[in-house]
Amino acid sequence: MDSIEQLERDAISEVQSATSTAALRELEIKFLGKSGLYTGLLRQIGQLPPEEKPTFGARVNEAKARLQALIDERTEALKGGERAAQFEAERIDVTLPGRPSRIGYEHVLQLTTNKIKRVLGGMGFVYQESPELEEFKYNFDALNYPPDHPAMDEQDTFYIDETHVLRTQCTAMQGRVFETTKPPLRYFTVGRTYRNEAVDRTHSHTFHQVDCFMVDEGISMAHLKGTLGAFARAMFGDEVKIRFRPDFFPFVEPGVDYAISSPKLFDGRWVELGGAGLIHPNILENYGIDTERFSGFAFGLGVERIPMMAYGVDDLRHFLENDLRFLEQFRAMA
Ligand code: FA5
Repeated sequence: MDSIEQLERDAISEVQSATSTAALRELEIKFLGKSGLYTGLLRQIGQLPPEEKPTFGARVNEAKARLQALIDERTEALKGGERAAQFEAERIDVTLPGRPSRIGYEHVLQLTTNKIKRVLGGMGFVYQESPELEEFKYNFDALNYPPDHPAMDEQDTFYIDETHVLRTQCTAMQGRVFETTKPPLRYFTVGRTYRNEAVDRTHSHTFHQVDCFMVDEGISMAHLKGTLGAFARAMFGDEVKIRFRPDFFPFVEPGVDYAISSPKLFDGRWVELGGAGLIHPNILENYGIDTERFSGFAFGLGVERIPMMAYGVDDLRHFLENDLRFLEQFRAMA
């Protein structure tokens, strides 16, 4: 048997046993491609006597044409089956119910912040963004802390360099407003605060505060109490009462801590929410505000305290741990 017949036998047997169109494509390249076996066979033509050359060339070309026809025929036959298998694999059941997409919801502290913004905004206070990485002077000096005053020790914090700290209190926003805006003023901010603090159920190194102040003619403790009363009722319900007790903060005079009590919460026990008072005249005068004409109040409180009170959360560390079993309980608030 000569080499042309031998090659044709091999080719036919391989093509017939191929089971996919992809395998047939490979065989087409192997036998009929530019560097395929038939091309190799044609190269032998140079070694043949001149009289045999034309017949040899013609026979190879006929064999190639037969093989091409066979490959085409097999490809056609296999294609139908492959398409049917693909359709079967990709079949979708249009009668199945859809999968609901999972929609996120806001963290309980964000929900609380949103509510604080609605309530204070509704009372005419303007929201003021203020940096977490704060200049020492706004966090302390501008708030009437004398140099090295022990009150600063209560708010030890994280120093970034000589002049920058992670803010310990949102009250730092005040000086920034006084620098750029003239009274009457009504501003508030809500944000993250930091202290170098031993962590326990009610204290964290990272927490949130809302801070609010007002400067206008004739502002007194009565305005402060009225505002905090309205705020507390909006956050905790109409039965809530508020209480002031004297306290010291360098930036207010007089200063108070204020607590709330409601028959529905913690058996009516008083729970401290934050500090407050009338803005110290030193601060107003430092910013060129006439204290004969203007006075102001300020208050600041821990945001975590609000959901802790309202929902009986007994450990503030839950807010930062991102445990979905905890967070999902507040989904309905969203
Ligand atoms: C202040 O930070 C004052 N800037 C509040 C203020 C503003 C007084 C304006 C007068 C006028 P104090 O350090 O007490 O005060 O913090 C206020 C509230 O923040 C606390 O009552 C508490 O609710 C919350 N808080 C303070 N430290 C922590 C902490 N480590 N973890 C969680 N909450 C805290």
